[in-house]
Amino acid sequence: MGEDFVNSTANQGQFELDVSHPFGQYPRMNTTQKPCSANSGGADGAKPASARSMKRRQFLKSTALIGAGGLILPRMKLFGADAPSNKLNIALLGTWGRAEAHFDALSSQNVVALCDVNEKHLAFGAAKFPKATQYVDWRKCLEQKDIDAVFCCTLDHTHAFAANWAMNRGKHVYCEKPLANCVEEARVVRATWLKNKDKLATQVGTQRHEFQNFNRVREMVRDGAIGQLESACAWGNRQIPRPGYLPAEGNPPDYLHYDLWLGPSPFHPYNPGYFTGGPGANCLQWNMYWDFGSGQIGDMGSHTMDLAWNALDAGLPTSAEAKGDPFNPEVTPVKLETHFDFPANDWRSAIRVAWYQGGAMPESPQGAIDLKKIDHGAMFEGSKGYIVADFQSRILVPEHNGADMTYYKPRGKEDLIPPLGNFQQQFINACKGDLKTSCDFGYASNMIEMMLLGLVAFRAGKKIQYDGAAGQVTDCAEANQYLSRNYREGWTLNG
Ligand SMILES: NC(=O)c1ccc[n+]([C@@H]2O[C@H](COP(=O)([O-])OP(=O)(O)OC[C@H]3O[C@@H](n4cnc5c(N)ncnc54)[C@H](O)[C@@H]3O)[C@@H](O)[C@H]2O)c1
Repeated sequence: MGEDFVNSTANQGQFELDVSHPFGQYPRMNTTQKPCSANSGGADGAKPASARSMKRRQFLKSTALIGAGGLILPRMKLFGADAPSNKLNIALLGTWGRAEAHFDALSSQNVVALCDVNEKHLAFGAAKFPKATQYVDWRKCLEQKDIDAVFCCTLDHTHAFAANWAMNRGKHVYCEKPLANCVEEARVVRATWLKNKDKLATQVGTQRHEFQNFNRVREMVRDGAIGQLESACAWGNRQIPRPGYLPAEGNPPDYLHYDLWLGPSPFHPYNPGYFTGGPGANCLQWNMYWDFGSGQIGDMGSHTMDLAWNALDAGLPTSAEAKGDPFNPEVTPVKLETHFDFPANDWRSAIRVAWYQGGAMPESPQGAIDLKKIDHGAMFEGSKGYIVADFQSRILVPEHNGADMTYYKPRGKEDLIPPLGNFQQQFINACKGDLKTSCDFGYASNMIEMMLLGLVAFRAGKKIQYDGAAGQVTDCAEANQYLSRNYREGWTLNG
């Protein structure tokens, strides 16, 4: 099973039924800080179906109809969170690869539907969850009436689609990162979530968020360990250079519904190279191509910027600028740095936020720390020093004569933000309880909108001013075309 960060231990912990999590109610405002100063199967490219795969499709169609006959019953909460009467009925979209990391969490519930465009992978999921109805088209799957919640582990370019469709059908959604593949998708998902957030739980699959270091960093920033927060950044060193889309090679095997794999994205010919990665790592075979992913922005960027984002209480940026590799119309840049301006909020002044990838790096505080030794990290700069962090640890660097630490008192144990417990279990609990998760579609859509706006600035080739309320670049008309993507006929983002 895949993890985006090789040494991570997230997902391996036991489930904790933590019902007292603090999401949305982070305690304490440090009084030494300045008060706020402002503010289908479509037809394109499908190979002729063999007799065998037609038979298979016919079977899937008829089982889909049986699955659609279920009834939604009110949930009874009489016998505990995982009592038979209180289990969620779950649909798993994408049943191999990253999906396997969720099998343990899913096993405690009823998996009633499975969907994968690769029938071998569907069979892999069905071996684990034999009672589930099987589909190859997630749109048909989501019509199954007894589904309460969806785990989406498909390709990046389908995440926003599946998330919207699921919420529009009254289903809770756990969606793998990244939540969207362009700015508009992030905004549409957020709008759908805003309409449904009083009845649906959501979570984006940035499971490292369960590491307690995330909230220790947040507490230090909020409590003034580095004085007034001035800027924050995150970086990642993953580099997967590719020249362009793979050339046509052979035909899709009869167990692969290639046209559905392409989904809403423009047609690209089949090449087995898109499918050669191991379980949970196959995303590294396709996520650098503009029509399938957003490169390291959406890949490790989703995880590592989360470490900073958790401490910033930021909404949308007012500007973005970027520099990196020369623009390639087929492949997202390997080397890239992006910078954003954010307005003040009720506990801090205006800040700058940056993302660095593929060899671009922030400057080290005093050169004393070799940031390059931290593969995926975040740094906060304040008026009295720096915090440098990776997923599981942090370093405090007081700086200048005034940094005598008298202004900072670490929290007592009783004031610490409580642990989240297991990340997937947090979502399952939320579906059955108060709907609150740490990385809901509000939190995560803002973050990915910022990151993807960085790619818009990269394509525009200049600093852009952004009106987050309107979702418009205000000083470069040409840049607005990069906020959205073109979809193939027959695919609707918010269906
Ligand atoms: N949170 C993490 O740490 C983490 C780790 C790895 C991958 N991921 C994310 O998980 C997702 C999947 O990554 P992967 O490496 O497993 O990819 P993958 O290419 O192996 O695809 C996963 C599964 O989805 C199926 N699939 C593809 N398109 C589909 C569609 N339209 N409908 C139904 N099934 C479809 C594939 O056949 C495969 O079985 C990516 O978005 C990736 O970013 C997250």
